[in-house]
Amino acid sequence: MSIQDAYKQKRRTAEDALTVVRDGDFIIVPTGVGEPPALLTALSQHRRRYRDVKVAQILALRKYAYLDPETVEHVRHVAFFFGGATRAGGQAGWIDFIPNYFSEIPSLIERGQIASDVVFSMASPMDQHGYFSLSLGTDYTMAAVARARAIVLEVNPNVPFANGDCHVHISQVSALVESEEPILEVGLPNIGAVPQAIGKYVADLIEDGSTLQIGYGAIPDAVVVQLTQKHDLGIHTEMIGDGIMTLVESGAVTNRKKTYLPGKMVATFALGSKKLYAFMHRNPMLEMHPVNFTNDLCLAAQNDKLIAINATMQVDLLGQCGSESIGDLPYSGTGGQADFVRAANRSKGGKAFIVVPSTAKGDSISRIVPVLATGTHVTTSKNDVNYVVSEYGVAQLRGKSAKQRAQELIAITHPDFRAELTAAAKRLRLL
Ligand code: COA
Repeated sequence: MSIQDAYKQKRRTAEDALTVVRDGDFIIVPTGVGEPPALLTALSQHRRRYRDVKVAQILALRKYAYLDPETVEHVRHVAFFFGGATRAGGQAGWIDFIPNYFSEIPSLIERGQIASDVVFSMASPMDQHGYFSLSLGTDYTMAAVARARAIVLEVNPNVPFANGDCHVHISQVSALVESEEPILEVGLPNIGAVPQAIGKYVADLIEDGSTLQIGYGAIPDAVVVQLTQKHDLGIHTEMIGDGIMTLVESGAVTNRKKTYLPGKMVATFALGSKKLYAFMHRNPMLEMHPVNFTNDLCLAAQNDKLIAINATMQVDLLGQCGSESIGDLPYSGTGGQADFVRAANRSKGGKAFIVVPSTAKGDSISRIVPVLATGTHVTTSKNDVNYVVSEYGVAQLRGKSAKQRAQELIAITHPDFRAELTAAAKRLRLL
């Protein structure tokens, strides 16, 4: 059968495509904008037909109707990371959470420790060889594609056909649904004075020729906009957003000095504007790869001068970073933070930055604290943390004693909290 005939034969409505789903199934859905809206809307509409179906995803963006505490015995969400659509359900307990390093989700799937019965994913239109590109969320979805009983693609002409290891052949596909809905756009945030100040400290420590991983959150974005005057930067990251595209356009990113995959930038998922999605289309400079490739610490560390820039919510005086919860309330997830902190530590000339505004809640709370709040989920350990940057400066912690760490961190705390922190450090025998 020709690939065109196979395409026609597999084409379904979203509702008909749901017939591949059985009670008890685990449906794997890619990160963020790679989630297929027509399929998830149809599943939401018909959720009461099913029993014990799980939808597993690292960052759900839309609030589909199946995200409903009243119907979790039919379809329940399982988060690898919480975002706006899932945080309240995670905190209330009716959305499940699987702790993970982003880099390891594919191996958990390959080993069957996370089930993957069905894949629902957005995809580019099919090329002349019968391939679709899962460019928006390559992540763990490629591992699920290799294992799943059924693969359902939502084919959308707005999805770029990217290069890399992100392709699925028509012969692997169980059903296809066509949609033309614009891809969700997530723009750069407005950058306030605090992120700007932190961004400046970090940018000053980034040498020309460095390779960047840029994390999630307002401050990593604030760093990026301050790098446009640098030269020969490279990209080896998990998320590609508009900030990175801007750096390419400014000429700051050339990828030519990269010591691993020179000339190419690599990422595993996209989150940005329509312009970014157009930029990704058949761009020879960009490769989208599974997350066990992009975030593998040994591979990423082959980039000399690897720079990791990631955000946290709370840091204690040893440098332990609680980046994903507020006390025992889950907020997000580990994502790639620990992967890239360790990769940057291993890289020759690498630097891992953890960025943190010194306060939260209108300056009423210090984010640098003597000990983490009870129940805090530790994201970056005291053994991995290196540069911690607030709007008051840079604390460099690796190789430093507990006492030196306390001194360094108190020096970048908001001045209103320094006396309190110094007294607490003395009680903890750190000073
Ligand atoms: N105590 C109480 N509240 C706190 C707090 C603290 N110590 N720290 C932060 N908060 C509140 C903030 O006030 C803010 O609340 P608001 O939305 O009501 O203003 C909220 O928590 C989010 O904090 P913020 O610092 O604005 O987060 P961010 O948007 O910059 O995102 C995270 C940071 C959550 C994404 C980031 O810490 C995270 O998840 N890191 C782990 C994953 C990661 O790094 N991945 C990188 C690879 S993609």
